[in-house]
Amino acid sequence: MKKDKQINWTSELQEEEIILIEKFGEMDNFPKHIAIIMDGNGRWATSRSLPRAMGHKQGVEAIRDIVKAASKIGVKYLTLYAFSVENWKRPSVEVNVLMNLLEQYLRQEVDELHHNKVKLGAIGELSSLPRVAQKLLADAHEKTKDNDGLQLNLALSYSSRWDILNAVKSIANDAKDGKLIPSEIDESTFSNYLSTKATPDPDLLIRTSGEMRLSNFLLWEMAYSEIFITDKYWPDFNSKDLYEAILNYLTRERRFGKTSAQVQDENSPNANLSFLQRVVNAIKS
Ligand code: FPP
Repeated sequence: MKKDKQINWTSELQEEEIILIEKFGEMDNFPKHIAIIMDGNGRWATSRSLPRAMGHKQGVEAIRDIVKAASKIGVKYLTLYAFSVENWKRPSVEVNVLMNLLEQYLRQEVDELHHNKVKLGAIGELSSLPRVAQKLLADAHEKTKDNDGLQLNLALSYSSRWDILNAVKSIANDAKDGKLIPSEIDESTFSNYLSTKATPDPDLLIRTSGEMRLSNFLLWEMAYSEIFITDKYWPDFNSKDLYEAILNYLTRERRFGKTSAQVQDENSPNANLSFLQRVVNAIKS
């Protein structure tokens, strides 16, 4: 039966994952929300003399691995930048490839995601997506909405300025209708008008392929996110790279505008850095 074929991800934990869970899973400063700009599919393919579509196809494999890995080690929220508003400007053949891959991913993966308690959501101007994709997304959301594992958010036809402008328009309308008092609008009010309102701000942003840009992704939400950039192209990014990014994040001192001394007074001592380094080395070897 199909159900029997579904893998229980926690039954295939690797040694380094067990270490991560035991040592870091419960740490206060473990990143709850990781956002990823998955970049470099095209270059991955071109460097192998393959059509760009193959890079995107391989990119979906990386999504499968990373969702599984994040879920296994207890990341609560994972937001993947899968298609930006600006990506609609790409040649229609490439847009079609990406939309077909999205539909295929949803058709093939939702049962296994559900089996592993993943809750699937999407942010962006979803009405611009093909109807089939919209329906698959709505069905996936409905099926998984009560799951209490990883919340996977796919950013699709998403851009942060689009989201911010929508929020501004809604706030203006609500103020006009007397539902909001302009002088009382604060950061939390504003956040609640964004499509990301159901998720905390990302703790960690990972971007692949060495580019150092935010590319219109979660601009408001990432005011204080830590950034990890790797030269690897997205199709080559694997669970070990994810763990390395998380371990690197754990070595950061997040000051939120305060001084280092203030932060050290407030926080319990950070995890032992040499231990962290040993885990990174073990994972990389
Ligand atoms: C960037 O590579 C990648 C994207 C356009 C988004 C990520 C898409 C996938 C991983 C595959 C599709 C999956 C879904 C769920 C839609 P690029 O084409 O910009 O690479 P380049 O900068 O090397 O050209």
